Amino acid sequence: MSYDSRYPAIEDLIKRAKRKIPRFAFEYLDGGCNEDVNLMRNTKEIREVQLIPQYLTKHTKSEMKTELFGHVYDAPFGIAPVGLQGLMWPKAPEILAQAAHEHNIPFILSTVTTMDIERASELTEGKAWFQLYHPADNQLRDDIIGRADAAGCSVLVLLCDVPTFGFRPRDIRNGLAMPPRMTLSNMLQIMGRPDWALRTLFHGQPNFTTMKPYMPKGLDMKQLGRYMDQTFSGRLNEEKIAPIRDMWKGKIVLKGVACESDAEKAVSLGLDGIIVSNHGGRQLDAGNSTIKPLKYIAEKYRDKLTVMMDSGIRSGPDIARSLASGADFTFLGRTFMYSVAALGSRGGDHAISLLKTQLQQVMEQVCCERIEDFPNFLDRVE
Ligand SMILES: Cc1cc2nc3c(=O)[nH]c(=O)nc-3n(C[C@H](O)[C@H](O)[C@H](O)COP(=O)(O)O)c2cc1C
Repeated sequence: MSYDSRYPAIEDLIKRAKRKIPRFAFEYLDGGCNEDVNLMRNTKEIREVQLIPQYLTKHTKSEMKTELFGHVYDAPFGIAPVGLQGLMWPKAPEILAQAAHEHNIPFILSTVTTMDIERASELTEGKAWFQLYHPADNQLRDDIIGRADAAGCSVLVLLCDVPTFGFRPRDIRNGLAMPPRMTLSNMLQIMGRPDWALRTLFHGQPNFTTMKPYMPKGLDMKQLGRYMDQTFSGRLNEEKIAPIRDMWKGKIVLKGVACESDAEKAVSLGLDGIIVSNHGGRQLDAGNSTIKPLKYIAEKYRDKLTVMMDSGIRSGPDIARSLASGADFTFLGRTFMYSVAALGSRGGDHAISLLKTQLQQVMEQVCCERIEDFPNFLDRVE
């Protein structure tokens, strides 16, 4: 388990991913929404966070193991839920679930990715977390939650930031569909990426495996959009969360929190954690970066529930910046997918190993011995 020294930075992975996969798949992964303002704000503002090193302080060892919901993970970061992963690289969710398991970090399975709950559980020996898009129909909700429970998932992640699907010009231009539509442009893109094309042919067309038992067959993009709109009712609210709290015996995390009032509601509903997230800038282009609300949300709510964060993290130093700003734990979405798109089956191990190496270096540098000590090294002078 080690990183490939030919790709020591995210830019290397992005460059290679772009060369390896068709443009419609790369743009689906890489894009934010509207003009990508929020996407860029995430990466820009997290990098403005500065740490202060303490070189002469007595220091024995920096340890990045972190306890979260009763499990000790090897590192303070995990793999965020990403939909349609198999479109970007065949078997991408399987590659990431396996790598997460081997490295003992959490893997969150999206409701709408291309691997089902049961397979995720098999690959992680029951340690995968499951992210639920809330269905409009309660019977469907209960069935999916029942499967997650039967598969041994310990953490249920409720997504709250998709009251409407993001407005994504690149996907609209590309006519993004599952499976990819065979327009002339898409066919040319696929022909230009023979490795991706052959592997996709070999593994079969990706589909929404968790949702497959409930879906009508052969939907085109428009029909799929309509089906998704009808099936997932959009706006999450307290009335929808309360019965899930009652039925789910494990931990529940609310993902997509970007303000105090939603954090407050998570506390009053008895949830166990929140992920401060703006979906990687894919939903509200006019919104905040996540590092900004993280600071005040963590300060106010860290004693009441576990405060995690994603959106904009691309490196070990970014993980350190987020932890120093008050996060108990962090997640990354695109970084892992760029790595798999670039390096295939080695992509999961590569990205995790690289992030661990970079984070360890930051810890040694600032003299931080334990993950929970990171806030001591934050430069608070704005
Ligand atoms: C291509 C793509 C698909 C995503 N699909 C989902 C999803 O199905 N469910 C979900 O909760 N979040 C989804 N997200 C959001 C991620 O879980 C995470 O919040 C985001 O990627 C974090 O930002 P980052 O990419 O800058 O790390 C998706 C993100 C991307 C980039």
